[in-house]
Amino acid sequence: MSENTSMHGFWKSRWLFILAATGSAVGLGNIWKFPYITGENGGGAFVLVYLLCICIIGIPVMIAEVSLGRMGRQSPINTMKALAKRSNASPNWAIIGWMGALAGFLILSFYSVIAGWALSYTVDMANGDFVKISAEESGNIFGALLGSPTQLTIWHTVFMLLTIGIVARGVNAGLENAIKFLMPVLFILLFILFGYALSSDGFSQGVNFMFSFDFSKLTTESIMVALGHAFFTLSLGLGAIMAYGAYMPANTSIAKTVVIVAFLDTAVAIMAGLAIFPIVFANGLEPSAGPGLLFQTLPIAFGQMSAGVIFGTLFFVLVSFAAWSSAISLAEPIVAWIVERFQVSRYKAAAIIGLSAWVLGLATVFSFNIWSDVKLFDKTPFDLLDFLTTNILLPLGGLCIAIFAGWKVSTTKMMDEVGIDYPVLFKLWLFTLRFLAPLAIIAVLVNGLI
Ligand code: PHE
Repeated sequence: MSENTSMHGFWKSRWLFILAATGSAVGLGNIWKFPYITGENGGGAFVLVYLLCICIIGIPVMIAEVSLGRMGRQSPINTMKALAKRSNASPNWAIIGWMGALAGFLILSFYSVIAGWALSYTVDMANGDFVKISAEESGNIFGALLGSPTQLTIWHTVFMLLTIGIVARGVNAGLENAIKFLMPVLFILLFILFGYALSSDGFSQGVNFMFSFDFSKLTTESIMVALGHAFFTLSLGLGAIMAYGAYMPANTSIAKTVVIVAFLDTAVAIMAGLAIFPIVFANGLEPSAGPGLLFQTLPIAFGQMSAGVIFGTLFFVLVSFAAWSSAISLAEPIVAWIVERFQVSRYKAAAIIGLSAWVLGLATVFSFNIWSDVKLFDKTPFDLLDFLTTNILLPLGGLCIAIFAGWKVSTTKMMDEVGIDYPVLFKLWLFTLRFLAPLAIIAVLVNGLI
């Protein structure tokens, strides 16, 4: 069983852990990225591969990551140090913590910029800027936002302040309070928008697009995208979920809890897709519009519908809230580590990380305008950060977590911790963690890199 102290505090109940972990998992990944990569990768077949990745790799790795967190009860870096020692494994396993903290920091820097778009769109929507606009005008609005370093920086700053403000206040006064408010509102908004899409003309076309399997559209690249996204959307491989696990009450079953979180995350992604594609089809727009799908395509549709100002505003509030609760979890592992390592207050630690991530975020801001021609491996700084973290660091982190939890920690300790009641299921989980998940991750990583 795990130790029972955490200097950062505990979630007050199992449900608060579920809300917090779901808050971390549900974010831009579900509402912005999932619909557009589904669109780019041809729809149904991609969705199927993604679902398989969630079930076969995502859930087992997530159980392992939360378990390691609860066993260590500290920031991921120190948790991994302590667990490596306790398991007589090489201290180098702490690399999981370091790599994760780095990935979290890098993601936070660009996540804040994209979340800033959502904040900006919330205001524009409420202003009625999109009423009856043409596709061209919508493109112009999006282009003007991306083209303006000042605008992007302002919203990036607002979002970073919101995020860091919460992390600075700690697990109970900050994270827990924010999540108790954000998550219910998020679910209500999602249901309202889903209900709207359900009644729109394009609903069956949307369902068709997401669930008809055309395997000819599937490439090795799209399989890599699906796996990377499974990690990204479940917040795996970088210690965010490990940090949240460290604050989990001792007597709850990790396995059952994780299944609920993964289910909620997947449900939100599917619902977001089912809310977005019908609106896209009903208005004769293209599903494969890429990253602009949410910001360029969807507003045209909101502009055409009656009460579109209200629905459109609600929609971008939803996106902003989802991004907010995820960004908090990106900052938590490294902020917790600074508090432990340097014995400084959380306020100080959060400020340092917030400021540094903000500065790095400017590279993403400039990727869309003054640096749009600055390319390495044919990628802008933003594309490079996204690729490096989502497609390499997260799967690599997941791989190390699977190997460490599967091979290095004693099986009896693991059995005690994960709370899988049936021996057969436990064996199945262990098998997945030891063989299936590592092999799949390696295959996809190697394939993607060559
Ligand atoms: N899961 C979040 C999303 O889908 C992003 C995230 C990744 C958050 C990794 C924390 C850690 O948007």
